[in-house]
Amino acid sequence: MLKRVRIVGVGMTGLGRHGLPAVELSRQAVDLALLDAGMSMVDLQGLVAVPSISQPHFMQAHYIGTKLGLLPRRKFVVRTIDTGGAGPISALSTAAQIIRQEWADVVVVVASDAVLSLNSAEFARRADSSVEGSDLPSPCIPNGYDRVAEWHMKAYGLRREQLAMVPVIESHLAAKHPLAMCKQPLTLDDVLSSRRVGNVTNLLECARRTDGGCALIVASERHFKRHFTKALNLCPVIVSSGEASGPIYPPAADRITEELFSCERATEIAYQAAQVGRDDIDFFALYDCFPICLIRALEATRVCPVGGGGELVESVYRDLMRTGRVDTKRWPINTHGGLQCFGAPWEVPAMYNVVEAVAQLTGRAAARQLTPKPRRALVYGNGGIFSASSVAILGDGDYSAGTHHDIAAEE
Ligand code: CAA
Repeated sequence: MLKRVRIVGVGMTGLGRHGLPAVELSRQAVDLALLDAGMSMVDLQGLVAVPSISQPHFMQAHYIGTKLGLLPRRKFVVRTIDTGGAGPISALSTAAQIIRQEWADVVVVVASDAVLSLNSAEFARRADSSVEGSDLPSPCIPNGYDRVAEWHMKAYGLRREQLAMVPVIESHLAAKHPLAMCKQPLTLDDVLSSRRVGNVTNLLECARRTDGGCALIVASERHFKRHFTKALNLCPVIVSSGEASGPIYPPAADRITEELFSCERATEIAYQAAQVGRDDIDFFALYDCFPICLIRALEATRVCPVGGGGELVESVYRDLMRTGRVDTKRWPINTHGGLQCFGAPWEVPAMYNVVEAVAQLTGRAAARQLTPKPRRALVYGNGGIFSASSVAILGDGDYSAGTHHDIAAEE
């Protein structure tokens, strides 16, 4: 039987320009997560971290572990995971594996970066260098997604306005989150008249640069129940995960095919491992660094048919214009606002997907809470330019309610 593993604590710093090194943001986030879990530093037995682009360090997780005073320690395992923006979900799944292999009972997953504290030119230089060797014009990352968006428009009839509707919908959701960077809902005109960054990409459709740190404490249920007092219904279960990969940058537009994309496979693996399907998922936290990334994710996770992402976005948008609110029955997605409207500290933002999923699964999402409370969530991280996909299924693990059963999470 698989050991049941739960997310027992979450902690995040605020977003914005902090003027602090990334490792300090990690420290703050870990302190907050420990507080949430009712633990202290001595309770940790492992650390999994993702790289930072503002303060890169050799063996980032070892660096963070050392700076936080977690090392040296006899029983302690440390690992850096480098799958770009997919990193937090890969790290979550790695933490669960470490616990299932019985190398540790409590592992902290941490990610932080300070990309808003870098000036624009320096951020652009570092971001461009992440796809060194590509033929993409600067800013390379937005232009890489722009290339894929244009391809998708030709292949499936996606329209320019449908891309721009994504941040409009997400801004309405973000406006309900006290920590989101986007405080006011955007209009389609705001998006379409904002500065052009690529052929079919404008400024308000880009992942929003910010500083931020976030930590998740992951623990074996058995160990947690024995040593800590936090109620288990506040600690979602990691049910399954899946991962797949693509190239570090996309090929020329005329050579893009469906082969480029990996979210489909990562999702399929996660669904199969959990023995669930799309209809069993009540909340989706999908990577959305640019609108095309979200549209591909809607299709890959089977929220809508392949090629149907634009139509779904448009119908939710039209409904929003009519009623003034996002119909979360049809769009139980990114209630925090995603990368474009909540904020995106480089490789950190998939952590926010997990934090929002935890909030939804535990009924603590305040004004954003979906009703009825979701029982299962799918979280997705994407790295590079469709270069890495990592998906995890989380369950509320509220067995006492007797409402359902997470098949792959038996101990
Ligand atoms: N919504 C609202 N405002 C936004 C915004 C958004 N989505 N994006 C930027 N802005 C605002 C900024 O806050 C800033 O406002 P102020 O002037 O009031 O400070 C203003 O627009 C200008 O933004 P920048 O300072 O960033 O402008 P710039 O000229 O230096 O750069 C840009 C513009 C090239 C589009 C840059 O913002 C950019 O590169 N953005 C994308 C960041 C990115 O690529 N992130 C990674 C995505 S890929 C991924 O996540 C996977 C992975 O593996 C990491």
